[in-house]
Amino acid sequence: MSTATDTKLIAPHGGTLVDRTGDHPDDVETLEVVTLTSRELSDLDMIACGALSPLEGFMSHEDYESVLDTMRLANGLPWALPVCLAVDAAPSGDRVALADESGKLVAVLDVDETYEYDREREAQQAFRTTDDAHPGVARLYEQKSLYLAGRVTVFERAEPAFPELAKDPADTRAEFAERGWRRVVGFQTRNPIHRAHEYLTKVALETVDGLLIHPLVGDTKSDDVPAQTRVECYRLLLDGYYPSDRVVLSAFPAAMRYAGPREAIWHAICRKNYGCSHFIVGRDHAGVGDYYGTYDAQLIFDEFEPHELDIEPMFFEHSFWCKACGSMASAKTCPHGGDDHVFLSGTKVREMLEAGELPPTEFSRPEVAEVLIQAYRA
Ligand code: ADX
Repeated sequence: MSTATDTKLIAPHGGTLVDRTGDHPDDVETLEVVTLTSRELSDLDMIACGALSPLEGFMSHEDYESVLDTMRLANGLPWALPVCLAVDAAPSGDRVALADESGKLVAVLDVDETYEYDREREAQQAFRTTDDAHPGVARLYEQKSLYLAGRVTVFERAEPAFPELAKDPADTRAEFAERGWRRVVGFQTRNPIHRAHEYLTKVALETVDGLLIHPLVGDTKSDDVPAQTRVECYRLLLDGYYPSDRVVLSAFPAAMRYAGPREAIWHAICRKNYGCSHFIVGRDHAGVGDYYGTYDAQLIFDEFEPHELDIEPMFFEHSFWCKACGSMASAKTCPHGGDDHVFLSGTKVREMLEAGELPPTEFSRPEVAEVLIQAYRA
């Protein structure tokens, strides 16, 4: 869908917003069935709506190898992470039906090729580690042993977890255009919005027209705060502390990979497809444990020429509340020492919540802390 005004927005990655939705084919019941994991299903749905433009299906061997080696598709376009469908054996026909875990048929895939891949090589390239304690690597090691490549046509879109927050790239683009926005900053999060997140989003919003708060609601690891609880927090925070005419809240249907730096590039490219001209990257973006350096996810942007990605990253230092400044700050803006800084690790916050203790208001707004504590009690 395009309107006269949306030409002001950033172009999708590769130039065109992909639409791989289509009609239910008559012969689908006769096809061999491939069952997708929930991660593969969310990738499928994102391909269907253009969130992964220019991908039209699961990656070819050539693209896959090129992405692992050079962070570019075979045609040279930046792309940071594999988007692949794992199977046990090559299908016999040239078309297969794709099903969700309940057996419901949702799409067809026109088979281009089936190829072998090396899990450890993919782990090292994509995650920078082969350690199976890393949640993304662990998932990769559990996968079936071949990749099946080909263009998909989705006739049954995934049921969104939060229907009122489900917006395809065409929808967010139309909404930005209607609001007259041109410069829009996207914010990825897999957490409740604490004071640091609020600070980044508001500082970024000061310099652009609008803010897309785009929490990831696909699969996350078991000790991350569940999306249901987070969405409650986002709503409260948006109602109380963000101007509605400058902010769009929508759910990002991707699954977390925890691939740190490469995932930051991937997240940015996806948000470009949703119409964002800017993207926030703070400390240890998409990181887990100690696998990545605090600013590795910012440094990786130097491996591209700015025009290649087009979407502009907005980098933020580790931010915290400073008691002496009486405001949020970072090492870049605050002259005071660590004793004045309110810093709580994720583990510490979890411990406090488990003990029924509210984290301090300098860390989290009381409304958000209250929702989290209730969720922990439940
Ligand atoms: S992520 O896995 O989605 O990156 P999280 O929800 O914690 O995790 O972070 C969302 C974004 O906010 C990321 O860009 C992250 O780098 C940034 N961020 C989170 N906390 C801070 C902080 N205290 N200071 C600076 N940036 C932060």
